[in-house]
Amino acid sequence: DWTMAAFRETAIAAVRKQVGTGRVICGLSGGVDSSVVAVLLHEAIGDQLTCVFVDHGLMRHGEADEVVSLFRNHYKINLIHKDVSDMFLGRLDGVSDPEKKRKIIGASFIEVFEEEAKSIGGADFLAQGTLYPDVIESVSFVGGPSVTIKSHHNVGGLPERMNMKLVEPLRELFKDEVRLLGRELGLPQHFIGRHPFPGPGLAIRIPGEITREKLDILRKADAIYLEEIRAAGLYDQIWQAFAVLLPVRTVGVMGDARTYEYVCALRAVTSTDGMTAESYPYEHAFIARVATRIINNVRGINRVVYDVTSKPPGTIEWE
Ligand code: XMP
Repeated sequence: DWTMAAFRETAIAAVRKQVGTGRVICGLSGGVDSSVVAVLLHEAIGDQLTCVFVDHGLMRHGEADEVVSLFRNHYKINLIHKDVSDMFLGRLDGVSDPEKKRKIIGASFIEVFEEEAKSIGGADFLAQGTLYPDVIESVSFVGGPSVTIKSHHNVGGLPERMNMKLVEPLRELFKDEVRLLGRELGLPQHFIGRHPFPGPGLAIRIPGEITREKLDILRKADAIYLEEIRAAGLYDQIWQAFAVLLPVRTVGVMGDARTYEYVCALRAVTSTDGMTAESYPYEHAFIARVATRIINNVRGINRVVYDVTSKPPGTIEWE
């Protein structure tokens, strides 16, 4: 794609000019955006880049291993794999307000980056995979009321005390353009085609209080759901699909015993930029099969519902 080939050259030149001989630290989440930033920066500045994979304990099943093997082993990018799940889950203990969760997670991310920047002898820049829709959804409407729908932690909010400048090479791009750029940079197709995954991870897919037990339940349900989507050949037709664990228990029956367990909500949407979205119209037989598999295999869930809400008025995530 000539547009992205040109963008790639321009972006690399811009990064080199901005960074000079400085050191850059980049948070790698395993999502498309931060992956593209990492590979672009690695191409632009090589070993001046150190990536940090912050394992906050809110990742999906198998995520950490995949990221480490691609970026450290394949790309030979300097990568620090930091397990800080105790710190994050400790701070989130008893917190149920969605904005508080985001603030705690955002602040903790920054703290970890600061520490890691120190550990490599100081960094001058922090690189982020901020996209254009993040930028516009996070600022108030010009001339209109000041409304923050969700405080995306990867935009703004950098405390003054943090002595790093931002490098945000994707700031003008939409998601589909980031994917084109990723392909241009030679990232594997299964990484480029990945559904978006929010920085706060599973924390915003567990309305109410987060516990390790709930995280385990959600990881299992989510893995089954995505496995079925892939097996049915639907993955690439869907913008984003995930399970949500509701803080509600309902009564069910298993064999001849009464059960009283959590409700799992399944979400799948089509979208072009994440700013508006439609619920994906599954065949009933498909979604019913997924529900049965989840209930039969995941202890802690005895009921599954499907979310048919569009955005607007709903948002894609539940928090
Ligand atoms: P919503 O839920 O606002 O989501 O319709 C739009 C897109 O943004 C992702 N999302 C986030 N990404 N930090 C992120 O990095 C966040 O706090 C966050 N909240 C939502 C969401 O997954 C969807 O792709």
